[in-house]
Parts: sequence; C-alpha cells; structure tokens
Amino acid sequence: MSKKRVGILTSGGDAPGMNAAIRAAVRGCLHFGYEVYGVNRGYAGLLDKDFIPMNSNMVADIIGMGGTILRTSRSEFFPTSAGLNRATKILSEYNIDPLIVIGGDGSLTGALNLSKLGVNIVGMPGTIDNDFGASDYTIGFDTAVTTAIDAISKIRDTTFSHNRINIVQVMGRTCGDIALYAGFSCGAEAMIIPEKENDLEKICEEILRGKDRQNLHCIVMLAEGCGSYRDYLKRFEELTQVTTKGTNLGYIQRGGSPTHFDRNLASYMGFKAAQAINDGNLNTVIVRRKGGYQAMPIEEALATKKVFNQEMYDTMRILAR
Ligand code: F6P
Repeated sequence: MSKKRVGILTSGGDAPGMNAAIRAAVRGCLHFGYEVYGVNRGYAGLLDKDFIPMNSNMVADIIGMGGTILRTSRSEFFPTSAGLNRATKILSEYNIDPLIVIGGDGSLTGALNLSKLGVNIVGMPGTIDNDFGASDYTIGFDTAVTTAIDAISKIRDTTFSHNRINIVQVMGRTCGDIALYAGFSCGAEAMIIPEKENDLEKICEEILRGKDRQNLHCIVMLAEGCGSYRDYLKRFEELTQVTTKGTNLGYIQRGGSPTHFDRNLASYMGFKAAQAINDGNLNTVIVRRKGGYQAMPIEEALATKKVFNQEMYDTMRILAR
C-alpha cells in the first residue's frame, strides 16, 4: 500500500515560528511514516498546484528563521465557493489528505470550509495577533511582543530626554494583545486598545495626575484596531499641552528570529499536528490551553471567544501612576 500523503501550507500574514512549526510537522509526519508535500504560497499556491515533495533535509536549520520557507499569501479567490471546490479537486487529484494549515483566523476558517467539502484538516494558529481564543498563545505573538519591547525601549529614551508623549502604534487587527503585553512590559503610561472604550480625556487626565510636569514623559500604546497614531496627535497635545509624537512599528513586528517561547510552542504544535494525523484525530486545530496541548475540533476552536487579559490591563494602569 502506498504511503498516505500529507500536505502542509502557511497562509495569511507570516509569523516568526512558522518555520519551526513546518520543521516539526514535516519531521513528525515522516517519523510516523507519511509522505509530505509542501504547498508553496498558501491557498493561492494550492490553486496553482504549486507543490513540492519534502524531506527531512529541507527543513534542517530553519527552526530559528523568521518568515516561512513555504511562503504565504492572502488569496481572494480561495474562500469563494468556486475556489474551495477547485482546491478540493486539486487535493484529491494529488492524493493529498490530510492538509496541515498554519495561519490565523481567516486561514483556519478557510480550512474549516475545506473540511466541510470532505478534505481532512489539521490546523495550527500562526499569527502575531494572538487573537485565536481557543489557544493561550498563537505562534509568533511572543516574538512580535519581544521585538516591540526592544523598539519601545529605544523610543522611551528619546521620549524621556525631550519630556514628550510618544504614541506607539502596533499591529494586531482587532485584538489589543500586542499593545497590552508590550505596553505592560515597557511600563507604558497609557493604552488605547479595541477591547476598551478609551476615553481620551480620562486617559490624558490620568497621564497628568500627580506628575511633575517638568519631567513628564510618557509612552501611549495604540493598537492598530483603534486607528493610526496620526489620528491622536493633535488631541493629545490639546488635552495635555505636551508635545506629542508618534511611531508606527509596522512590519518589523512580523519578522526576525523566533524567541525560545515561539520555537517551543511551534515545535510542540507541529509535532502534535503529526500525532493528531497519526491518531486519526482530524478536522482539529492544535491549541495550547493552560500550558498543555490538545487537538480541538476546528469548528469549536474557531467559535471559542477570546478572553481579554483584564488583570494585566488593570495592573498596568496602577503601576503607571
Ligand atoms: O494578521 C497579521 C497582521 O500583521 C495584522 O496584525 C495586520 O493588520 C495585517 O497582518 C497586515 O497585513 P498585510 O501584510 O496584508 O499588510
């Protein structure tokens, strides 16, 4: 009997640790006796039949590399019914089943829709946004926060020297976790995030309260889900009478070598994905919950609501005064 052929792709925004996940999934699948086909450029590559047979050597030395060796894309055609049907046909033509999908919410929703057409799926949450409610952490988040902390520390130096306010804009789509976790670690004085109402007058009042105005300097974290830092500069200056500058950290948050945490997370998730396939635990997403790993049914994982870290937010506000 010929070996079962597993496919693997990365989709959506790349995230540090995706390569560690690819390495672990490929080697895990080979360990259990499967053949592995890499799909280049995510779902767009799938639709172009851009496949590459993978062996152990091809994933050597990638555990510490940022980006994704399989490349990635955001396909507009794939989520359509014509796209999903075409993808299903191609996978069956190439005998690829199951398919491992590493990506964020949108990519895993695409995987769920494929599974409804009969394709077996195992997913892994890979996105810097940490917006996947079923998992304590997503692959890439810790590295993005670490990168942001490094940048914010530098911004803090010049903000202090000039007695200014600096609004630091970070990624995360509608999730404020990068802003929250990086801000907490940098001693940010204030935060504007989608999970909160963000009353600017109140925020500025808190910034000014009890401060020695001669030495007032301040980092305000802004999650991109609340707009651009440019939208806030004038209002902050009006309300505080303090010169206010802004910085968008941008795509540096998506690159770089993954931290030890992301390497571990991705390696466990990749191997657990191979294990889930070997156990016949299909149409699942590998998630980390309370420090352990489990294969959760994909529909349930996507429906799990993200819980906001209220304790971190409250503590940040107390410590900022
Ligand atoms: O989902 C990851 C992410 O980096 C978001 O934080 C950001 O909003 C988006 O991707 C940017 O996407 P693109 O690379 O298409 O500009």
